[in-house]
Amino acid sequence: MIQVKLELDQLYSFVSKEDLHAYDRQVISAYRKLYNKTGAGNDFLGWIDLPSATSDEMLDQISAHAKTLQAKSEVFVVIGIGGSYLGARAVIEALNSYFATSQKTAVPQIIYAGHQISEDYLAELLEFLNHKEYSMAVISKSGTTTEPAIAFRMLRTHIEKKYGVEEARKRIVAITDKSRGALKQLADSEGYVSYVVPDDVGGRYSVLTAVGLLPIAVAGMDIKALLAGARKMEAMSRAVQKIHGNPIALYAAARQALYRSGKTIEIMVNYEPKLFYFSEWWKQLYGESEGKDQKGIFPAAVGFTTDLHSMGQYIQDGLRNLFETVISVEKPRHELRIPKAESDLDQLNYIAGKRLSEVNLMAELGTTLAHVDGGVPNLRIRIPEVSEDVLGQLIYFFEMGCALSGYMLEVNPFDQPGVEAYKKNMFALLGKEGFENQTAELQKRLHNKTS
Ligand code: PA5
Repeated sequence: MIQVKLELDQLYSFVSKEDLHAYDRQVISAYRKLYNKTGAGNDFLGWIDLPSATSDEMLDQISAHAKTLQAKSEVFVVIGIGGSYLGARAVIEALNSYFATSQKTAVPQIIYAGHQISEDYLAELLEFLNHKEYSMAVISKSGTTTEPAIAFRMLRTHIEKKYGVEEARKRIVAITDKSRGALKQLADSEGYVSYVVPDDVGGRYSVLTAVGLLPIAVAGMDIKALLAGARKMEAMSRAVQKIHGNPIALYAAARQALYRSGKTIEIMVNYEPKLFYFSEWWKQLYGESEGKDQKGIFPAAVGFTTDLHSMGQYIQDGLRNLFETVISVEKPRHELRIPKAESDLDQLNYIAGKRLSEVNLMAELGTTLAHVDGGVPNLRIRIPEVSEDVLGQLIYFFEMGCALSGYMLEVNPFDQPGVEAYKKNMFALLGKEGFENQTAELQKRLHNKTS
């Protein structure tokens, strides 16, 4: 059963039901392009049937490998950037306990590297790993991305020194393209166990391949349940390729209607801090897919109630080009009630006996109404709990919602040409072979500060 519910009650004072349903033709056309593979980027549609096409044997193989890595690791390092790490982190952080330590759970602590180039971060990580049993996955579809390549070079040196080359090989997993790229060559020559990122699945749509599944399994999560959730959403999407009865299509239509009425920023809101990295994954998915040709909704994220004390003022009262999409979790895992106090000096006895989740819900509902009154339309995605199954549903919901949105916006949601600009400049400034022509010009623009 689909457990992801989209509620639009707080949208209709901004966009009428009739206006929303007027997008049905665009939705149907976008669906047709996706399923018939006739739209832009149609060689990157492997994610569409990935949940149903992934066999249980494949999942068993990943789970068995994850167990061998767990057995020898207090820490598992996931090296990757963008779509090669955010999906795994989104699921792992959503399902992990806030404060569990590896000693207690017999599952390795998952640590990330290669998602930035901070010298202090890597130096402190290497120092930390001196005292830990560890293994790692290096994940890069292209196999040539600078940030993870640097991290992997440093960590590989470290792990080989710590365990010797032979044992290090058993502790390194490579997840990359099937035939191209430096990482593939290295993996083959060193004999690392490797997994393939399918050609037709782009980085930000790859969480349900080994890119996400291996780290998620090493973290002790149930990848079969995750895929089962995604399959439900995949089946619903294929069966209902129109707005009526399809929450994904409704979400995509609502976003379009809002965008065309001048709401150019979508803020993903959570009231559960464990979902922070889910929002980060969503930001990357939508930002890289839609933001092109001088078009696209800017995806932002906040965690409430924390950010009501920082961004709340702007959202309530600033420039009116925003809308919010709230992920509302019905059931927390734990039950905690506010105790009654004799003195009531903190004046909280009026909520004594209530669960924290009731207070959190009233904060959510009160904030929604205040923001709607302030001119911020509100979409609500209600989920019963944060579990593998529900996260699988949500992942597919947002992937398909993103693809539909991209086609409705008339951009290619599967490429990312804009990401290359910074890379070219960085390579030129670092003096990489082949970029010499740009180096002098860039240095001049920087007033010779880097020369
Ligand atoms: O979504 C994408 O394609 C990107 O965000 C990539 O995942 C990111 O740039 C990392 O690329 P790679 O996996 O080739 O190292």
